[in-house]
Amino acid sequence: MYNSKITGLGYFVPDNIVTNDDLKQWMETSDEWIQERTGIKERRWIDPATKETTSTMAAKAAKIAIKRAGLTKDDIDFIVFATLSPDMYFPGGGVRIQDMLEMPTIGALDVRNQCSGFIYSLSVADQFIKTGMYKNILVIGSENHSGGLERSTRGRNVTVIFGDGAGAAVLSRCEQDGKGILSSHLHSEGKHAKELALEGPSTGRWVPEILAENDPDDVSYYPYMNGQFVFKHAVVRFSEAIVEGLKANGLEKKDINMLIPHQANLRIAQFIQRKFELSDDQVYNNIMKYGNTTAASVIIALTEAWEKGKIHEGDLVILAAFGSGFTWGSVVIRW
Ligand code: UT7
Repeated sequence: MYNSKITGLGYFVPDNIVTNDDLKQWMETSDEWIQERTGIKERRWIDPATKETTSTMAAKAAKIAIKRAGLTKDDIDFIVFATLSPDMYFPGGGVRIQDMLEMPTIGALDVRNQCSGFIYSLSVADQFIKTGMYKNILVIGSENHSGGLERSTRGRNVTVIFGDGAGAAVLSRCEQDGKGILSSHLHSEGKHAKELALEGPSTGRWVPEILAENDPDDVSYYPYMNGQFVFKHAVVRFSEAIVEGLKANGLEKKDINMLIPHQANLRIAQFIQRKFELSDDQVYNNIMKYGNTTAASVIIALTEAWEKGKIHEGDLVILAAFGSGFTWGSVVIRW
C-alpha cells in the first residue's frame, strides 16, 4: 500500500469584492449584524461580465496547483471535483475541467457533499492512490454561489454568508511511511437534509411544476437554511470529527499544529479553537474576506495558510468540515 500526500496547492477567487455595506442595495442588513454573527467583512462575487463560472475558476486554481506540484496536465491520472453549484444540471463539472485544461481522456468524478465536499474528495483520492490505481490526482472544490442567491431581505440570512471561489490540490503517491494523509473520517445524517437545502429544480420539484403553480412565495430554487439548527449541529459534529481523527492516529489535541476548519461562520471556528485549546496561530480562518465558499472553503484556506508559511514539513494538519446533508468529516495530514 502507498501513502498519498499533497504536492501542489492553488486557489482562485474573482476580483469583484462585495462588502457588507454593498449588500444594502438589495436587502435590509448591516455591516454590524453580519460581522457580529458571522465574522464576514466581505466576499467575492463573480462579475457576470467576466463570464467566470464554477468550472473556469476550478480550472484556474487547478493550473496553479499542477504547476506547484512540478507536474504538467499530462501527469494527472484522475480528477475529483466537489461543488454544489455546477455550471450545468448535468453533466457535472469534472468533465468541463478536464476539457478546459486540455487533459487526456482521464476519469473525472463529481462529488456532491456540499461543505464537506473537499474532505470527501480528498478521502476518495487518497483511496485511489493507496490501492496503487493512480499516482497523481487533481482534487478540486469550486463554487459560484452568487449566481443562485436570493438578493432580497427575504433571503438575507443565507445570501450574506456565501461567496464564490475555487481551490485545488494535487494528491500524489508517497512512499514515505507516516507522511501525507494519515486518515480520513466521513459521516452523514440525511434526516436533516432539508435543514440546509435547495429543493428545486430537481426531479422532486421540477421546473414545469414550479411554473404551473405560479406561487410568488415558492422560492424552492433558492437555498434554504435553518441557521440556528445548523449552527448547533455544526459545533458538535466538527468537534467529533476532530477527536475521531486524533484518536485514530493515537494523537492528542496538543499534537495539532494547524487546524483548517470549513469557513462556515467565524463563531463556529472560534468555539472549536477554544474547545481544543488552540492558539490563533494554530487555526486558519479567512471567512472575513471570502465568506463561506462551501466545497472550496477548506482548500482555499489550506492554500492560503501554506502560502503564508504557516504550515511546515512534519506539521500535523487537520482539515474538518460540516454542512448540508448533513455531512461532516475530517482529514488528518502529516505534512
Ligand atoms: O456551511 C454550512 C454550514 N452552515 C453553518 O454552519 C451556518 C450556521 N448558522 C449560522 O451561521 C447562523 O445561524 C446565521 C449566521 C446563518 C444566522 O445567525 P443567527 O444568529 O442564527 O440569526 P437568526 O437566523 O436566528 O436571525 C436573527 C434575527 C432575525 O430577526 P428577528 O426575527 O429576531 O427580528 C433575522 O430576521 O436576525 C435577522 N437577520 C438579519 N438581520 C440583518 C437574519 N439575517 C440577517 C441579515 N441582516 N443578513
